[in-house]
Parts: sequence; C-alpha cells; structure tokens
Amino acid sequence: MDEHKILDKSINIGSKISKNRFCIQPMEAGDATLEGLPSKYTMERYHRYASGGAGIVVIEAVTLQYRSRSTEHQLLLDPENAQNLNFWRRFFRTMKDCYPDTLFIMQLQHAGEFSSDVFSERVCVKPHPAFGGKIINADYADNVIEQTIAAARFLYDAGCDGVDIKFCHGYLGSQILRPYNDREWKYGGSWANRSSFAFNMCEGIRRHIPDRGFLVGAKVSAFEDFDGGQTFEESLDLIRGLEARGADFFIESLGNAYFSWSLMAPGGKDRGNVYKHLAAAKIIKDSLAPGTVLIGGGLSALGSRLPVVSEYGIYNGLFDMAGLGRQAFADPSLPNKYTEDRLEEVHWCRCCDKCGELLRSGRQSYCVFI
Ligand SMILES: Cc1cc2nc3c(=O)[nH]c(=O)nc-3n(C[C@H](O)[C@H](O)[C@H](O)COP(=O)(O)O)c2cc1C
Ligand code: SF4
Repeated sequence: MDEHKILDKSINIGSKISKNRFCIQPMEAGDATLEGLPSKYTMERYHRYASGGAGIVVIEAVTLQYRSRSTEHQLLLDPENAQNLNFWRRFFRTMKDCYPDTLFIMQLQHAGEFSSDVFSERVCVKPHPAFGGKIINADYADNVIEQTIAAARFLYDAGCDGVDIKFCHGYLGSQILRPYNDREWKYGGSWANRSSFAFNMCEGIRRHIPDRGFLVGAKVSAFEDFDGGQTFEESLDLIRGLEARGADFFIESLGNAYFSWSLMAPGGKDRGNVYKHLAAAKIIKDSLAPGTVLIGGGLSALGSRLPVVSEYGIYNGLFDMAGLGRQAFADPSLPNKYTEDRLEEVHWCRCCDKCGELLRSGRQSYCVFI
C-alpha cells in the first residue's frame, strides 16, 4: 500500500464505496428545533461537513425517544410522526442531490441515565449513585430494539446510507453492556444476557434490511475506565458478535462522557490519551475480518499532525479511516485541503474543550474559534 496521500484513496464499505478515508464523527451540537428537527444551524452544519469533502458524514446522536433525551435541542427521529418523517425524507433528498458521492450514516441513540430529569424522564437499567432514574424493564428495552429497527427501515427507504448504533460513552447501549448492569433481568447479569440487547438489535436490522448497500455499524467504547464500566475483553466480543451478525463498520472510541471525558476526547494536558485510542484501534482491527472497516477516533488533539498520524495508522493496519470529531467543528474542509495540498490553511482544533463545555451545559455547541 502506498503511504503517500493514502487518506485520498477510496475504500469499500459493505457494498458501498467511501471516496476517501475521512469520516465526520457524530457530533451533537444541540441546535435542533424544540420539535427535534434540523434547524437552519443544523442544516448549515451538515452542508459544511459534506462540502468539506469527507467520504462519510455520520449524523450526530439522534434520539428515537424524545421523552428521555440528554439535550433539550436534540435531533429526533420519530417513526410514528408523519411530519417528522417528511422532514427527514427532505433532508436526505437535499443532501444526496447536493453531495451524491458522500455517504450519510445516522447515529441512533438512547440517553438512558444521561437523559435529563429537568425537561425529560430519566431512565436507567440499575440506578447509579451519580444519576439514579426510573428502572426500565424487558418490555421497555425490547421496544427500544423495535424502534431502532423501524428507524433503520425508514432511513433505508429515505435514502440514508446506514446506521451507527451507539454502544459507547455511557449512553443506554453502554449501560446495558457494562458489568455494573448486574441486576437479574432479560438484559442484565451474565454477558450473554447483556450482549443479547446489542445482538438482537443488529440481527433485527439486518433481517429487515438484508441489502449490504445499507451500512450497519456501531461506535463502541473499548473500555469506559470506571468501576463497573465496559471492559475491553467484552467489547472485543461485542464487536466480533456484531460483525458476525452483519455489521460492516465500527467507530473506535474510549471512555464515558461523564466519568472519563478526557479519555473519550483527549485534549489539553491529556493529549497522550490519543495513543490509547491508537492502541485500542490496533487491537480491534486485528480482531476483525479484512473487509470490515474500522474508523479511528480520538485524533483531534493531534492538531496539524492528524493527517500524518492517520496515514501512519492506515498504512500500519491500525484503522482504515480517520474519524474527525472536534476537528470537524474547527474545520470540516480538512479533507478538501488535504487533497489540494492546502494543509497550511486548515484551522486545527486546539482541544480547548470549550465546545464540550457548551454541550454539557445544555447550550448550542460549536467551535469558539471560528
Ligand atoms: C461537542 C461534542 C459532541 C459530541 N457528540 C457526539 C455524538 O453525538 N455521538 C458520539 O458518538 N460522540 C460524540 N462526541 C464524541 C466525538 O464524536 C469523538 O468521539 C470525540 O470527540 C473524540 O474524537 P476527536 O478527538 O476527533 O474529537 C461528541 C464530542 C463533543 C466534543
Ligand atoms: S472549541 Fe476548542 S475543542 Fe472545540 S473544536 Fe474549537 S478548538 Fe477544538
């Protein structure tokens, strides 16, 4: 493989092709309308992401359960609301008309214990002292699986290229998977029970959409780094199990948005955590079949070294594509500037974490330097 400009090379993913090795990570910006629809700010943001040249744009964490959401202005996909669905149909039509060679994938999320107890109902699988919340039962979790499958089916028909099911950062998917969920219920206790939630969801999506042109993948925290959090051994088993059930791609991640933010999104004095992401990616990549695509994460703290480290990562088999999280806020046109040898014009993310602070305080999030 030629290391030079490897980020410009296309890659097969499922039966689709990403035109290059850049992927815009899901980045919640808290700028939806109060009905959960994309606002003019949301639309501008997605036009910026796609026109910046990335092969894949992952639409940020979208809730299917408005009743239990983490941010007041979070995007909503409601398979039972015709107006909501019409809006999303128009969204994908617009994006595909404007950017026919960009793949759009939507991240589907349930906030679980991260759902606000101010403007929504907080639910959990086992109350954690930091959060509490109303305990969900098997019917509730089965309903989440059904809603996710229905949402994927709608997205397939609406022209979206795939779904990213969220098993990272401490949201409901993580809460069910982690050993802390030791309560005896359908999706708790043994690893077989805890992992069956994710496996049933993936299997169900693939059963309803056997077309490998619709991409199914997952963003996974390899470990959460707190007592009772997701463990690396179980995460590897999860990834292999999802792959066996038809997953085409994974997005590498680490940590938890509450307990270990600087592991999830390295920055400032924790820049060294980038290398934990690289090590985790290598272990995950080695456990996957050659055709399964791994998107590397946690790279923004590299600043202007992001392209060269990503080239190294792809060339040496750590991952297949570079995920842009905060860098996508700071300058989503990095892919075009890379192709056109204009890297000196890139606004590099300074990893000051101000966009993270905005999101955590419930405000609209953006890069404060642009
Ligand atoms: C403001 C903000 C919003 C985020 N929203 C999401 C999200 O919707 N879904 C998700 O999986 N990760 C989300 N993340 C995490 C990023 O996608 C990414 O995993 C993390 O920032 C590390 O990548 P980076 O170093 O490129 O920023 C968010 C991070 C920030 C700072
Ligand atoms: S606000 Fe700070 S961390 Fe966020 S994108 Fe801008 S420079 Fe990066």
